[in-house]
Amino acid sequence: MSKKPVQKQDPETTGHSWDGIEEFNNPLPKWWVWVFYICIVWGIWYSIAYPAWPGLTGATAGYKGFSTRANVAADIAAVEESNAAINERLASAELTEISADAELNGYAISAGSAVFKTWCAQCHGSGAAGAKGYPNLLDDSWLWGGTIEDIHTTVSHGIRNEEDDDARYSEMPAFGRDELLETAQIDEVVNYVMSLSGEPQDASKVEAGAVVFEENCAACHAEDGTGDIYQGAPNLTDAIWLYGGDYATLTETVTNSRYGVMPPWSGRLTEAQVRAVSIYVHQLGGGE
Ligand code: HEC
Ligand code: HEC
Repeated sequence: MSKKPVQKQDPETTGHSWDGIEEFNNPLPKWWVWVFYICIVWGIWYSIAYPAWPGLTGATAGYKGFSTRANVAADIAAVEESNAAINERLASAELTEISADAELNGYAISAGSAVFKTWCAQCHGSGAAGAKGYPNLLDDSWLWGGTIEDIHTTVSHGIRNEEDDDARYSEMPAFGRDELLETAQIDEVVNYVMSLSGEPQDASKVEAGAVVFEENCAACHAEDGTGDIYQGAPNLTDAIWLYGGDYATLTETVTNSRYGVMPPWSGRLTEAQVRAVSIYVHQLGGGE
């Protein structure tokens, strides 16, 4: 194929040539050049007006003072302001009367659900069903009581923590570790505890275990093993276990005790939030 020669009226070439193909030196379109310059000017202005250049301790702030963090804070403040009146009502209402006020109760449940997901789900599970050592809040078995007042007290002050002087407190002795009971006695009482909830057990040890129980355990777990909410001592007859009802887990519980700790919330959350989450927990299914 013969090469078409460059014509007189054609623009000059750039002087590049690939396999005989030459490149015209066409000027860029005017509109393109202008958009290009405007973009440069706009880019310089933008990097002065808005946070842009990274420094050692943070980016330059920009003369317009724009900040996504401040925007979020303003949004939060606006929501808080619009909820201020109902939060005030929630914080000052009589606890037992809130459920009768449909508007207040509905607000408390949805606000409480948000608080729960943020602050409680790590330990109690996102559906509040709990885990080993962290009680299920859906059932009607309560360590410390299931009325709205009981739940409010538990959430406000927590359990066995050192931050709140009003925390719920009790301490099951470590019967094995502190040598309060012989290994044989622990074996007997564990078999007795298994008989209480109908788990398979060594029947020959139950009678002796009952005596150990009466002397060492009944003060907290009650004579019949049904527990005592004033001491947070669980019911041992209902087959609902915080730690587990098999022989090995029961032996571990009695030998070393457990000492479950829950943090207090009254200093961290507002009273309206504490009430909202208490009402949320109360209506989950097991509230009394
Ligand atoms: C760090 C883990 C942790 C967090 C976070 C936590 N809890 Fe607990 N909670 C526990 C433990 C452990 C217990 C059981 C303590 C015991 O053995 O008596 C408990 C017990 C409870 C009880 C008593 C249950 C009963 O049967 O009487 C309630 C009610 C409760 N928590 C609600 C909440 C709420 C509401 C929140 C969030 C504001 C929360 N908890 C956050 C660990 C936690
Ligand atoms: C001073 C009161 C107290 C005494 C005495 C006591 N307990 Fe407890 N017990 C508790 C408390 C409180 C808990 C809750 C767990 C914790 O400490 O966090 C508990 C928990 C348990 C559990 C765990 C239940 C579960 O759901 O997993 C078992 C089992 C148990 N006790 C058995 C006994 C036996 C058996 C004795 C007697 C040898 C005994 N306890 C004596 C207070 C007591």
